[in-house]
Amino acid sequence: MESGNDTIILSIESSCDETAAAVTRNGREVISSVISTQVPIHTLYGGVVPEIASRKHIERISQVIEEALSKADMTLDDMDAIAVTKGPGLVGALLVGVSMAKAISFAKGIPLIGVHHIEGHISANYIEYPELVPPFMCLVVSGGHTNLVNVSDYGSYEIIGRTRDDAAGEAFDKIGRAIGLGYPGGPKIEKAALSGDEDAIDLPRAVVNENKYDFSFSGLKSATLNYLNSAEMSGTPISVPDVAASFQKAVVGVLTDHAELAIKEYGADKLAIAGGVACNGAFRSEIRKMCERNDVEFYAPSKELCTDNAAMIGAAGYYDYINGKRDGMDLDAIPYLKLGE
Ligand code: KG4
Ligand code: ZN
Repeated sequence: MESGNDTIILSIESSCDETAAAVTRNGREVISSVISTQVPIHTLYGGVVPEIASRKHIERISQVIEEALSKADMTLDDMDAIAVTKGPGLVGALLVGVSMAKAISFAKGIPLIGVHHIEGHISANYIEYPELVPPFMCLVVSGGHTNLVNVSDYGSYEIIGRTRDDAAGEAFDKIGRAIGLGYPGGPKIEKAALSGDEDAIDLPRAVVNENKYDFSFSGLKSATLNYLNSAEMSGTPISVPDVAASFQKAVVGVLTDHAELAIKEYGADKLAIAGGVACNGAFRSEIRKMCERNDVEFYAPSKELCTDNAAMIGAAGYYDYINGKRDGMDLDAIPYLKLGE
C-alpha cells in the first residue's frame, strides 16, 4: 500500500556471504538496512564455502527481514514492492533470498522485482548522491566482477570493459591468502600496504590487446606468486607490507588507467565507482585525483554501501518498479546472469 506518493520497497540480498534486508523510500532514501555478515565463518576456511553460505542464509533471513521492518517501524502492509537479488552469485545462496521474496509476494500480494546484483552495486551511488542522474560511467569492482559500465539511463547499461580472468577483488583475496593474511584479502592487503613500499617489487600491468578497456589480473597474480615462490626457494625473507603495497599499486594503476581511457573516449563528465574493492582507500584517492585532472565529477558511495547490502537492491528495484517491471512466481535464481537481462 502506498504511503502518500512515496514508493516503499523491501529489498533482500543473499548472493554471497551477507544476508541483508532493507527498507527504502523512492529508491534514494534508506529507512532501514540490516546486514548479517558471514565473513567470520568463511574466514576459518580461507574463502566463501557455498554450502555453508546457503545454510547460514536460511538460518538468518527471516530475522534479518523482521529486523529491517521493525527498524523502519513498518510492516509488510506498508510495502509497495519487494525487490530481491536474482543473480549473479552462488545459486544456493541466491535461492534463499529469491524463495523468501516469492513467498512474501505471494502471501501478501506485493509486486515482486528481481534485481541484477551489479545493477544494485551501481545504484548504491543513487543513495549516496540523491542528485546523481544518468548518463555516467561506472567502474564496478567487486569480488566477482570488474566491469566498466556506460550507464546511459536508469536500467540501461553497456559494459565496455570486463575482466578476462579474475575479478579485482578475487585477485586481492588470492594474494591475501598467499601472503598469509587470510580472507578477505582486500581490506587486509590495504592495511598491510600502509607500512609497505609500493615500488619495492616491479609487477606487470596486463594489457588486453583485443579490447583496451578489458582487464586481466591473472598475469599480475602469477607474477606475485612467482616472486613469493622464488623468495622462498632462495631463502630470502619477504616483506608482507612491501608485497601488499606493490600488488595494490599494480591493481589500482590498471583500474584507474582504464577508467581514464573510458571517460576520455566516451566524453563522460561523471565517473562513479561501486563494489567491495571501491572501499580501498588507495583506489579511491587515485581515481579521485584522476577525475580532478580530467575535470570529471567523481562519485564514491560510503564503504557500507560499497560492500554487499540490500539498500542498493532497493535503489535499483525502485527504477524497475516505476518503469513497470514486475516478476512472477517463475522468478528464478540465475548464477551467471548477464547485466541487462
Ligand atoms: O561487492 P562485494 O562485497 O561482494 C561481491 O559482490 O563480490 O566485494 C567483496 C570483495 C572481496 O574480494 C574483498 O576482498 C574486496 O571486495 N574488498 C576490498 C576492500 N574491501 C573489500 N578490496 C580491496 N580493498 C578493500 N579495502
Ligand atoms: Zn557484490
